[in-house]
Amino acid sequence: MTGKETLELALELAGLTEVPADSGVLVPGDLGEKVLFSIDVGVGELLLARELGASGVIAHHPPGGLPRLRWHEVLWRHAELLSRYGVPEGEARAAVAELVREFSARDHLSSYGHVPAAARALGLPLVGIHTPLDELGRQRLAAVVEGLPEGATVGELVDRLSALPELAAAGTQVEVRLGAREAPAGRVAVLHGAGTNGGYPVAACAFRNGLDTVIYIHCSDQAARKLADEFPRKNLVVTGHIAADSLGINPFLEALRARGMEVIPLGVVPR
Ligand SMILES: [Fe+2]
Ligand SMILES: [Fe+2]
Repeated sequence: MTGKETLELALELAGLTEVPADSGVLVPGDLGEKVLFSIDVGVGELLLARELGASGVIAHHPPGGLPRLRWHEVLWRHAELLSRYGVPEGEARAAVAELVREFSARDHLSSYGHVPAAARALGLPLVGIHTPLDELGRQRLAAVVEGLPEGATVGELVDRLSALPELAAAGTQVEVRLGAREAPAGRVAVLHGAGTNGGYPVAACAFRNGLDTVIYIHCSDQAARKLADEFPRKNLVVTGHIAADSLGINPFLEALRARGMEVIPLGVVPR
């Protein structure tokens, strides 16, 4: 399969019709029969791929090029998710605009050419597939929330999330960063598959608009504290970053293997 074909496969699995801004082919070509899949790809991972006899590399976090520079654009997906949970569009977009401002500054300073240049020099095809795999992971988290009984507590939600094979196998735990296990979960929003977590502005917007529990895959302590000050009766559950990234990655790796590809996963929690 070519890098483009693996990206198209990921889109199909996620039910997406367009390539998100944070994903794309960095070095075109046939990935061959043996690929390295790594959540993060730097020059070290490219050399490791060569050392292990891999003929192509797939990265999860954008490793360079336009997907690295345009990473912040997929944050707008938070506004779409908030709208699905009934948040007025204008309010949702105002919350996300704050995040986009912060992350566009981060992306603007990135050394975006470094890793793709190294891959080209090594003759290694390289593709980055971020949001399609996180969207797959989001769907698996959302399915758990949909199965929650009426009146379930935050603790029950945590226990059910923790039973997902990747979350059960991970070194991290599902944590309640704001709120309490005994509290009713109420209306729950899964906010993942949108570039990165929505930090303070997106969770605050959800809480102001009738949602009781937000699920992020990770969240800074600073944002969690600010939310706790303002919304002491709400709940924020974090699943663990790599654990939840693995939720979307594993079905994709299985689909690649079903097509005859040998995959060496790096840093992925198996299920
Ligand atoms: Fe991810
Ligand atoms: Fe990630």
